[in-house]
Amino acid sequence: MYRIPDIVIAVDGYSSTGKSSFAKLVAKEFSLLYLDSGALYRGVTLYAQENGIIDGDNNIDEPALKKALESLDLHFLSTQQGSVMCIGDRVVEKEIRTMAVSSSVSPIAAVPAVRNFVDEKLREAGAKKRVIMDGRDIGTAVFPDAELKIFMTASDEVRAQRRYDELVAKGDNPDINEVLKNLKERDYIDSHREMSPLTQAKDAFVLDNTNMTLKEEVTWMEGLIRGKFGILE
Ligand code: CDP
Repeated sequence: MYRIPDIVIAVDGYSSTGKSSFAKLVAKEFSLLYLDSGALYRGVTLYAQENGIIDGDNNIDEPALKKALESLDLHFLSTQQGSVMCIGDRVVEKEIRTMAVSSSVSPIAAVPAVRNFVDEKLREAGAKKRVIMDGRDIGTAVFPDAELKIFMTASDEVRAQRRYDELVAKGDNPDINEVLKNLKERDYIDSHREMSPLTQAKDAFVLDNTNMTLKEEVTWMEGLIRGKFGILE
């Protein structure tokens, strides 16, 4: 194992491209802190749903949302199983990964006040460096000066199958067509919103993992890091 410099790594890309599995493993491999920015957007969404701030048709009460953000205690808690998302003292890791939250998260994430709320938390964590963050706008808006940027992509079918398998493994009973529809809808909203839309940073390295295993992805990353930072051993 070699030590890499104190850097920020930004991992952006489309929904369900395996960003978090990849980033978690890279974090472990290189002793970095992993931060899942999507979990924060999902946490805000769950709170909004539970408090009547967004309805079933995704109509958002923006003044109420802004007000709620002033006192919303959303944070990560480190546990032996890794870091988990909490609202106050309640662990909501399972609740934020449901299809119900997935179907409202992109409209919530398009609200500028929500993005400012999340950005502040991410920048605070990133200021300490040695962090890998995954999301949609990390390399373009949150950390435009990140030392290394990865943009992940994979075919629609492979992405839908991966998310479907993940939900089934958690005991859900999703419809694969619904999963695919949700991924495409989120990609569309995320790429077309006004503030910090999902787009590939000019200086990002593209990782298309349609036909790759996680192990191959990490090997690819090792090569990239060695080359970029001149690590020879
Ligand atoms: O795991 P998956 O790729 O499906 O999604 P996620 O990373 O948990 O993100 C959920 C949603 O949060 C995305 O579809 C975006 O709407 C939003 N998001 C964002 O707008 N900006 C980020 N940096 C991260 C997530």
